[in-house]
Amino acid sequence: MDYRFARRMTCAPPSFLDRLFAVSKDPRIISFAGGLPATRFIDVEGIREAAARVLAEDGRDALQYSTTDGYLPLREYISRRYRQRLGLAIPPEQIQIVNGSQQCLDLVAKIFLDRGDTVAMERPGYLGAIEAFSLYEPVFRDVALGPFGPDIDEFSRVIRDARPKFFYGIPNSQNPSGQTYSPEARRAVAEVIGDSDTLFYEDDAFGELFFDGKPRPPVAGLVPDKAVLSGSFSKIIAPGMRIGWICAPPTVLGRFNCAKQAADLHSNFLCQKILAAYLETHDLDAHVRRIARAYGENCRLMCEILDDDFPPGLSHTEPEGGMFLMVSLPPGLDSHRLFEEGLRKGVAVLPGTPFYACGGGESTVRLNFSCMDAEQIREGMERLSGVVRALLP
Ligand SMILES: Cc1ncc(COP(=O)(O)O)c(C=O)c1O
Repeated sequence: MDYRFARRMTCAPPSFLDRLFAVSKDPRIISFAGGLPATRFIDVEGIREAAARVLAEDGRDALQYSTTDGYLPLREYISRRYRQRLGLAIPPEQIQIVNGSQQCLDLVAKIFLDRGDTVAMERPGYLGAIEAFSLYEPVFRDVALGPFGPDIDEFSRVIRDARPKFFYGIPNSQNPSGQTYSPEARRAVAEVIGDSDTLFYEDDAFGELFFDGKPRPPVAGLVPDKAVLSGSFSKIIAPGMRIGWICAPPTVLGRFNCAKQAADLHSNFLCQKILAAYLETHDLDAHVRRIARAYGENCRLMCEILDDDFPPGLSHTEPEGGMFLMVSLPPGLDSHRLFEEGLRKGVAVLPGTPFYACGGGESTVRLNFSCMDAEQIREGMERLSGVVRALLP
């Protein structure tokens, strides 16, 4: 059969994920290439107890169809947490539960992008966003992301000249680079957005995971009518529950709700109720502090090894939180060669190229530091340093 697929399917970038999946299953390989949160912080016992409670007290309702916007007590919890952590007033009516914040990427693109529309994002930017947006056949523009945020001159130019429908950014501990916008960059970005007809799409997948425990105020709080803000329980509770959310101005949320209803009616209601029950009886702040402390230790160890044991000419970002850092390789060293040679020596890294919506990134790799212990980091980085030395011209 010659299947006549839609043209949009030819727009999806080639996926590296199958290869990575095979790598993550091979016990001989220490993988810095993945992006999983640490399994040891998933509170199986607490979630089991919350699930038993929900099924015993309210099982029939939890297993019935529900509304598209999501379980109200869970949206109220998210709203309260924004007020308490960040002083943001986002009412539950402006919050919609989604099937993991990845679903926001698809649905925001679906409601805003026609073929040929411009969408802008950071360089490098989140691979999952590039994949999701690509299916709507946009034209990508990118803006360099530095240690303090996007290059503001380039950002202003792109917003002014290309008038993208939206700019997608991750101001907190970005995936893949680990970079965080400074307070000045947040204000400058908000100012440019305020003077434009471009929406700011703020993905806050990592905002709870600052190593110093201090929250950074979202850009969305400075331009509430011109921003959507997504969040997720994946990195702080359990990604398998697939529960995230989006906050948006009422007009945008109405369209979003319509697209969500068409896509899947609503997110898994049983999981929403279990999560709400879990959050009622567990201290999320204490749990998040434990995770962030462990990730911070891993990140510092990885940075120290990169500084002390790798050849000169290599540089790396210095994350304040999150799960990733990015390495710029010495001249002449290609990241795909490093990937292939690393596999032979038992260590996997993720080449940077899939994170560049408009091309580039050949001399960069992303390293994950969330899901291994100090011993594995030492061993894996020793292998990696050997491969880098061997490949240098
Ligand atoms: C920046 C970013 N956004 C969104 C997601 C999707 O996460 P989820 O759908 O589990 O909320 C991820 C996953 O790693 C991510 O890194």
